[in-house]
Amino acid sequence: MKKVSLTGIKPTGDLHIGNYFGAIKPALELAKEYDARYFIADYHGLNVMKNPVELNTSIRKVAAGWLASGLDPQSVIFYRQSSIPEVFELTTMLMAFTSKGLMNRAHAYKAAVQENNEKGDDPDAGVNMGLFTYPVLMAADIILFDSDVVPVGKDQVQHIEMAQDIAQSVNANYGKELLKAPQAAVRETVAVVPGLDGRKMSKSYNNVIPLFAPEKDLRKTIMRIVTNSQAVEEPKDPDSSQIFLLYKLFASHDEQAALAGRYRAGGMGWGEAKEELFRVINRELTPVREQYDAIMADIPALDRILERGAEKARHIAAATIKRFRKAAGID
Ligand code: ADP
Ligand code: TRP
Repeated sequence: MKKVSLTGIKPTGDLHIGNYFGAIKPALELAKEYDARYFIADYHGLNVMKNPVELNTSIRKVAAGWLASGLDPQSVIFYRQSSIPEVFELTTMLMAFTSKGLMNRAHAYKAAVQENNEKGDDPDAGVNMGLFTYPVLMAADIILFDSDVVPVGKDQVQHIEMAQDIAQSVNANYGKELLKAPQAAVRETVAVVPGLDGRKMSKSYNNVIPLFAPEKDLRKTIMRIVTNSQAVEEPKDPDSSQIFLLYKLFASHDEQAALAGRYRAGGMGWGEAKEELFRVINRELTPVREQYDAIMADIPALDRILERGAEKARHIAAATIKRFRKAAGID
């Protein structure tokens, strides 16, 4: 039997090239070898997206992004989390095996508490139970489908480790391998795609290069990348330049070597380096953007793809729930 690769993306805004390299591309690569199950984590999105119109369009944008990037819904089971009620049943069952202390240690929750403490607010101000129990829902997403590997960016590794812990607690209780404990699959070379300001590219930092922006906007965004004040003639170190780090994601080996040479020789300003970056990004993204626009122009067809995926997913999900309920004595 083939092993299972599973991952999800929250529909919390427009996709950016960090998502593309950190999540979508590695996942599609794995789909060639594994049985792949990829989904839109819309209930995770609800934790932060309280505007219904925005959440609704975001769900379609992320789904269209996967398909435009090459996901084949014939070979990958592709669905919305919200279409699988078994996810929520499993979440409730896993809650019974998840210590509160484990949740207290989750990075996202700890960061929220720390921020509140720094402001002198109540430690839990603005923290909803969706955020606090986020890792349990995520563990259910993963465990429900007997996932072996979960392709994610580095920031998600802790969540996968929590899913392992939770699956192991269940297994220890029943004395058998009832649930599969997953492994994270992080691609080290693209583990963290830098944003316009050099920090991790993230919607939360407002430093992203959007994946499907029109060409003109893409160019403008790239021109906003923050650089130091080195003059045109000065030799530059490619490896400490985030323009070059981004360039490496899109350029061939020969192109990378050639541009690195120009950095080191001096005589190339940051403006020119950005032009080169725009050229290679636009080369890769133009066909993807065209696909994306075509998919977004027919939302009913997109929804049908997701519904067909959900039907397939529910068959697998039902088997896991049945197995667990029986072991738990709730059958
Ligand atoms: P954001 O940080 O913009 O809110 P998400 O948290 O929704 O992005 O991330 C969706 C997926 O994309 C996750 O698997 C995450 O690890 C990956 N990802 C997000 N930003 C980056 C980045 N800068 N580099 C690599 N992977 C990323
Ligand atoms: N938490 C993930 C993120 O922020 C999204 C997600 C939800 C996920 N459920 C998942 C990723 C299950 C992998 C597997 O990016």
